[in-house]
Amino acid sequence: MTHYRMGMVGLGVMGQSLVLNMADHGYSVAGYDKDPAKGKALLEVGAGKAVGFGATVTEFVAMLEKPRAILLLVAPARIVDAVLDDLLPHVEPGDLIIDAGNSYYKDTDARGKRCADKGVHFFGMGISGGEAGARHGPAMMPGGPKESWERVRPVLESIAAKVNGDPCVAWVGNGSAGHYVKMVHNGIEYGIMQLIAEVYDIFRRGVGLSNEELHQIFSDWNRGPLESFLIEITAQIFKKRDDRGGDGYLLDKVKDVARQKGTGKWTSQDALDLQVPVPTIDLAVNARDLSGMIDERTAVHKVLGSPIAVYAGDRAGFIQQVGQALQSAILLTYAQGFDLLRVASREYKYDLNLATVARIWRGGCIIRARLLEDIRAAYLAQPDLPSILVAPSIAAVVRETHPALRQTIRTAVEMGIPVGCLSGSLAYLDSLRSGSLPTNLTQAQRDFFGAHTYERIDSPGTVHSHWDQP
Ligand code: 6PG
Repeated sequence: MTHYRMGMVGLGVMGQSLVLNMADHGYSVAGYDKDPAKGKALLEVGAGKAVGFGATVTEFVAMLEKPRAILLLVAPARIVDAVLDDLLPHVEPGDLIIDAGNSYYKDTDARGKRCADKGVHFFGMGISGGEAGARHGPAMMPGGPKESWERVRPVLESIAAKVNGDPCVAWVGNGSAGHYVKMVHNGIEYGIMQLIAEVYDIFRRGVGLSNEELHQIFSDWNRGPLESFLIEITAQIFKKRDDRGGDGYLLDKVKDVARQKGTGKWTSQDALDLQVPVPTIDLAVNARDLSGMIDERTAVHKVLGSPIAVYAGDRAGFIQQVGQALQSAILLTYAQGFDLLRVASREYKYDLNLATVARIWRGGCIIRARLLEDIRAAYLAQPDLPSILVAPSIAAVVRETHPALRQTIRTAVEMGIPVGCLSGSLAYLDSLRSGSLPTNLTQAQRDFFGAHTYERIDSPGTVHSHWDQP
């Protein structure tokens, strides 16, 4: 093999899997990794396929067909700058570099500019689906200079997950749009995971259900409107036996401290900057942070710990109600994520097509769900939707399911089970639909103590009043 169609820098599990996926679809790929053992491993697992390995950056770059297309899958994402230091002296104007890691979108903007200064095109591409996805069909969210898209479109479309024949990849927008969309994907992922965790808590501590019962409930849910990857894997988790032997289930041996790599937090931080409320995502990040406060949790538990009240009502009816509550809250989480994308697209000039984002997310990625088909249809029918909640088909689901969400929260609160994300989701809905908020009082207070002025409902302009005078 003299010249390879694609290059891959970073031959860890994800990088190697993507190389094999591309090779299986007829694309020759040369790899590079600072660790020669990873190169050797690639040549071993890729024996018989059109894969190669460059021992040095110079050798690797020389192996690629021009104009070059080079994927980067290196972790942690901060080392992308060091990789560009190595690569940029060897590539040429017109070459394309695609960072497929979970990079922070502002870093992607800076890297895009750095590459553009040399005439090199740079894509930030979110990729989702873990190792299995990378090997057999991930969802991919590339963003950057659109003129480069057609060059990599065939290979990315061929390796992507497919839903009804449609590949789960498309150019999503300008600049850092790809990494921004992936960041919001992860924010939604955090939100849904915490909603599921709260439901698990209600069922386990509140109702006293066993892992076998939970497995059955989640399996049933995965055959209905809740059908999604996260519900499916949750069902599987409940039935996994302790892999160190014994009678128990593995889940019961897992320490309750949730770790994070930061993408959920970035979503919340950026949403705050753009003043777009994403309460379910914020509360999901909080929940992971709180789970890590071991000393504080232990101290407060000792002083104020109290037993959970056990649910005494009709179990079957309650399980069904909780399923509807989860459906409602998950829908409200997607609503927050898509709203953030809508505003970010305007602010950062990404030019996102939200129907396309929903289309990509239908398969391959962690938040893939049946519901995304409805969201996609809603945006196709009305691309400038102010919120997915006003689309007739989605509004109908909200109307049908939110009473169950309210009732579930009430029951959980009475039992003493924390349901921050379920509650935050409902408060988001109740605030948006209320027609009037108590923030007239906030305005009055601001004007009282700070003369910040306020607007009246019956005349234009801003006014200040002396609130302390009768
Ligand atoms: C995906 C996931 C993945 C995610 C990691 C880490 O789409 O495949 O979103 O990219 O970033 O699973 O997530 P944590 O922040 O929970 O470690």
